[in-house]
Amino acid sequence: MFPTIQWKDGCVVMIDQRKLPGDEVYLECRDYEQVAQAIETMVIRGAPAIGVAVAYGLALGMSRQSPGEDSEREFERIYRRLERTRPTARNLFWALEEMKADWDRTRGSELSDRRQSLLKMAQRIDVEDVETCRRIGAWGKSLIKSGQTILTHCNAGALATAGYGTALGVVRAAFAEYGNIRVYADETRPLLQGARLTCWELEKDGIPVVQITDNMAGWFMQKGEISVVVTGADRITANGDTANKIGTYSVAVLARENGIPFYIAAPMNTIDFSLEQGDQIPIEERSPDEVRKVGACAISPEKVAVRNPAFDVTPAKFIHAIITEFGIAYPPFDVSLQDLKNKA
Ligand code: MRU
Repeated sequence: MFPTIQWKDGCVVMIDQRKLPGDEVYLECRDYEQVAQAIETMVIRGAPAIGVAVAYGLALGMSRQSPGEDSEREFERIYRRLERTRPTARNLFWALEEMKADWDRTRGSELSDRRQSLLKMAQRIDVEDVETCRRIGAWGKSLIKSGQTILTHCNAGALATAGYGTALGVVRAAFAEYGNIRVYADETRPLLQGARLTCWELEKDGIPVVQITDNMAGWFMQKGEISVVVTGADRITANGDTANKIGTYSVAVLARENGIPFYIAAPMNTIDFSLEQGDQIPIEERSPDEVRKVGACAISPEKVAVRNPAFDVTPAKFIHAIITEFGIAYPPFDVSLQDLKNKA
């Protein structure tokens, strides 16, 4: 399996997801600003993966002190910079909060020990994320039957996490169990994470995958070719409303219309219990050029007005279950998610 992100010789190294599936190249970040820009420009993306990236970014930033700067002020500056990279994924803020708790806990120790402790915490977040995904897969496979076809949207796979994936973790676990699972991957305009990334990593694993354009999902559901939908999440509110890649809401409505179960697979650190419902989630709006172009090729008049929200919110009423590492939550989610949190 390819490494999505790793700490290597004092640098943060990540597979450059902008270049996939054509080129498998790795970007070496030597300072935290490079990590911040890698997140903003989608070198690395996917909620859990950017959580791991900010944790390493903070450890990297604090590993060398700027001359004359107070370490508390420096920590604050780096934290704020990484916090501003992408607004929607809860995991990013969760990881920064874990790092801050570690920094506060070691106050009074030697600076070198505090730096070492930050790196250990980032490595823990990294390693635990893979384990979490495997547990999500293990729970999720119980919802899948032999021979089923799973539709997924965007990429919630190994590339979007430290490894294994959330929605694709469920796919991997079900495929390992039955050997006859097939995936339909929405290509996911505008940045084509489904076509470029989901198809790439499933093909690498020998899991049968069929690429479809986003507007074909309803047709294949109507034809009876989709058994179940599983997607990831960027932020889930206390009532189960779920922000995920733009287009997820449309898929959920189509699934309801066609009587197909719609599942979300996500770790507990994607759940934002401080927000009651989905309209409180900050939704990132990205550059219009991502819509005006496919890759480097312009597809519309240069100055045409464009909107480009990166995520939408699927209301809880369309979601049959939320698969976490601590078990499966069913409606009413305000009760079942809280129960899982108490178990965690
Ligand atoms: O804009 P992206 O590519 O970061 O969006 C990613 C998604 O929407 C994923 O489905 C989500 O982060 C879950 S990843 C396990």
